Amino acid sequence: MFETIEKEIIKNKQFLTDVLDGLSSDSKHISSKYFYDKKGDAIFQQIMHMDEYYLTNAELDIFESHKSEIARIFFPEQQPFNLIEFGAGDGMKTKVLLKELLNHEIPFDYVPIDISQNALDQLHQSLTKEMPDLSFKGIQGDYFEVLNKLKESNGRRNVVLFLGSNIGNFTNDEAQSFTSNISNKLNPGDLLFIGVDLKKDPKKILLAYNDSKGITAEFNYNLLRRINRELGGNFDVEQFEHHPTYDPVTGECKSALLSKIEQEVELDGQTFHFAEWEPIHTEISRKYSLKQLHQLAKKSGFEVKKDLFDANQYFVDSIWEIV
Ligand code: AVJ
Repeated sequence: MFETIEKEIIKNKQFLTDVLDGLSSDSKHISSKYFYDKKGDAIFQQIMHMDEYYLTNAELDIFESHKSEIARIFFPEQQPFNLIEFGAGDGMKTKVLLKELLNHEIPFDYVPIDISQNALDQLHQSLTKEMPDLSFKGIQGDYFEVLNKLKESNGRRNVVLFLGSNIGNFTNDEAQSFTSNISNKLNPGDLLFIGVDLKKDPKKILLAYNDSKGITAEFNYNLLRRINRELGGNFDVEQFEHHPTYDPVTGECKSALLSKIEQEVELDGQTFHFAEWEPIHTEISRKYSLKQLHQLAKKSGFEVKKDLFDANQYFVDSIWEIV
């Protein structure tokens, strides 16, 4: 109990430090990782159910139409393996695959890794209710710490899932070091299964981040509300406007909150000045070409084994192997 409270305090200190740093910068920014408090998780669930947010359905389509092929690739030598997932969320897409593996009586442990024990508990409940035979071995912690332990431990084949185009939140350099880091912690024969949103009609992409009901806008405003709730800030959220842009050259879809007026915001005894229309950058959701994605695989020590697409070719689940 004491330990968890202490962790909460440390986490909030980091949140405060990061927000103060970001707002003090010449180009103001707040990391998108802070979107996901309880309220943010719930809004993201709504986003995944919107028609405009095509990413979720596209990846679900890939899972449903290629599940037997995926199972074959994951289980070539009939040896038990670890199915590790980074940031599983509600497991909606993974469920399709888990059921397929269980139906074929393929022996594996499902190892979701999440920083939030609460998220893992909820996932455990919902998955084992539907699939009582599932061997659920969720681990709370940092992705790479856990991978390190798995590398040393049981000599089983590891298959890492990183779905939902979460890689899009990284800059080029961050993505490169992230996938290289994974590859360093895997053994020959291990796989990385990575879901990535592809470059497409810019209008289609922009709509996914600028939906007609304003749910994505609300997702961004919640960041300011969270700062008010948890850190005692005094953002007047009404005086900010959600502003997504997409650059087809870089593939970066960026979100920003624009200050509609000249104003001042107080946080932790400091005053932050906003000029009229000054932005706070909040998120990159980068889109890749297939070529860029394959270059990323190669540069980080993987070989591309298979690309799986949805019917519209909006999205790819790319399977990479350590050789
Ligand atoms: C969960 C990071 C993949 O960038 O598309 C959805 C988050 N942001 N709408 C994305 C998000 C705005 C999403 N990822």
